Amino acid sequence: MKNTMPETGAFFARDRQWHPPAYTEIYKTSVTRSPQRALLSFEGTKSEITGPVFGHNMLNELDNDLIMNYAKPGEMPIGQRILVHGRVLDERGRGVPNTLVEFWQANAGGRYRHKKETYLAAIDPNFGGVGRTITDEDGYYWFKTIKPGPYPWMNWVNDWRPAHIHFSVFGHGFGQRLITQMYFEGDPLIWKCPIVKTIPSEEAINQLIAPLDLNATIPMDMRAYKFDIVLRGRRSTLFENRKEGN
Ligand SMILES: [Fe+2]
Repeated sequence: MKNTMPETGAFFARDRQWHPPAYTEIYKTSVTRSPQRALLSFEGTKSEITGPVFGHNMLNELDNDLIMNYAKPGEMPIGQRILVHGRVLDERGRGVPNTLVEFWQANAGGRYRHKKETYLAAIDPNFGGVGRTITDEDGYYWFKTIKPGPYPWMNWVNDWRPAHIHFSVFGHGFGQRLITQMYFEGDPLIWKCPIVKTIPSEEAINQLIAPLDLNATIPMDMRAYKFDIVLRGRRSTLFENRKEGN
């Protein structure tokens, strides 16, 4: 793809050598989902570049607390309490402030609260699995949640998704929305996952695995996992090129 913007420009084409190919046989739905023709490149339009700006005042107090934002009064969801935190960074390692970060996930049993979800694990009446926050002036974000469980999916026999949290990051406009998934250090399912296996670089996979962070762990409360999101450049986090995750 031709990239006419400078490296530090607001809009930046993804590096398709770093990202997995759209068509990968082991990830079955990619076969019908992938483009059948050569991709076209377009210049950013004014409406994309001057998109809406998100502010802290649009957030509710519990938006970054998935433990409490869906719980009934006096109740809590079941599962391991965790803190997920990190920074949104540009290609030079600088924090990106005022960035809307959204996240969604299955509950502790691996079940999503979604009408199309069919996995037999129980719905947790106190867990919604959706939240959002905005990075501070240093690009830092954090949220509290329940560690999601792995779940089986219809791909090949006995394919299970490793425990993961889906992330969306908005830049200055809707044209800059990026989607990715965070995995948890030590999960043996990561290296067996057909979706993870579509990623050609082990280094790129490792950037999606959040290490256990005992420094940020809250004593007698919750463990922490650290997940930095690099928007672009050689060390860019790998982003999916689609609007909804699995
Ligand atoms: Fe998922």
